[in-house]
Amino acid sequence: MLLNASGCLDALVAPDVARGLDAFVTKTVTPLPRDGNTPVRIAETDVGMLNSIGLANPGIDRFLTRALPRLEQLGVPLWVSVGGFETDHYADLCSRLDDYASVSAIELNVSCPNVEAPVESAAQIVAAARLATRKPLWAKLAPAVPDIGEVAKAAQAAGADGLSLINTIRGLKLEARTLRPALGPGQGGLSGPALKPIALAAVATCYRATDMPIVGMGGIRTGLDALEFIAVGARHVAIGTTLFSDPDAPARIRMELHAAAQERGWDAYEDAYAAAHEDSLSLRTT
Ligand SMILES: Cc1cc2nc3c(=O)[nH]c(=O)nc-3n(C[C@H](O)[C@H](O)[C@H](O)COP(=O)(O)O)c2cc1C
Repeated sequence: MLLNASGCLDALVAPDVARGLDAFVTKTVTPLPRDGNTPVRIAETDVGMLNSIGLANPGIDRFLTRALPRLEQLGVPLWVSVGGFETDHYADLCSRLDDYASVSAIELNVSCPNVEAPVESAAQIVAAARLATRKPLWAKLAPAVPDIGEVAKAAQAAGADGLSLINTIRGLKLEARTLRPALGPGQGGLSGPALKPIALAAVATCYRATDMPIVGMGGIRTGLDALEFIAVGARHVAIGTTLFSDPDAPARIRMELHAAAQERGWDAYEDAYAAAHEDSLSLRTT
């Protein structure tokens, strides 16, 4: 499946782009509305984009009453990304979403680098969410941990159904003239091309550590990028930062992905995933 990365596509502003996806992933929703961080919130770097949006969102009540009914009109499966500052927040959000048939999966954002708050362990959050909903739970992990494979294993043991890999990694950009941070809050989350090697390693590691399906993301700009993620064990791929400069990227990447697979002797790109399974040697990369 081809998805968007959370926070990188407003389906209500660009419904046709969202309809071209196999599922639409919402921006992370929190229990209460959030204005987000002080501007400036986005800055370009040589190797990707820095953002410090700070989970600006309308909160779960307005999301359910105003946004969800409109998202349902899109006719694509909906994954709702949820985030909080305590384990109970995730459980509450999941139990609220459990009542909505239109929500086909929940992504647990346990990895936002832009929120200064104590975040309990991914496994604790997954366990609490698991008790609160029967919907498929995808744990979205941060790459900046000593061993992401261990975090993934713990998430699976706690009841996760899949992994979304990876979220942004903390970065800092300075303005050349002033040597002051370009972003309002100082640091932000780095996304885009710089993330791809880190994300590929995370996918390869978690593929070996668990047997959960993985959504791979991080710097995907072309079909070949996407195929690389599939070749190291991602079942699905998501497009994030690329959508800001090229909103039509999903259709193009889908075509390129198909062509890149065919050039390598596969009828469909899913065959690359099957081949990756069979050819375990290619996956035992460290
Ligand atoms: C502007 C912006 C906002 C984002 N907001 C969220 C978010 O709300 N929740 C989340 O889990 N990830 C969020 N992300 C992270 C992306 O979903 C994705 O994990 C990351 O950007 C890596 O993919 P990419 O390099 O293709 O962008 C955001 C990324 C960007 C650039």
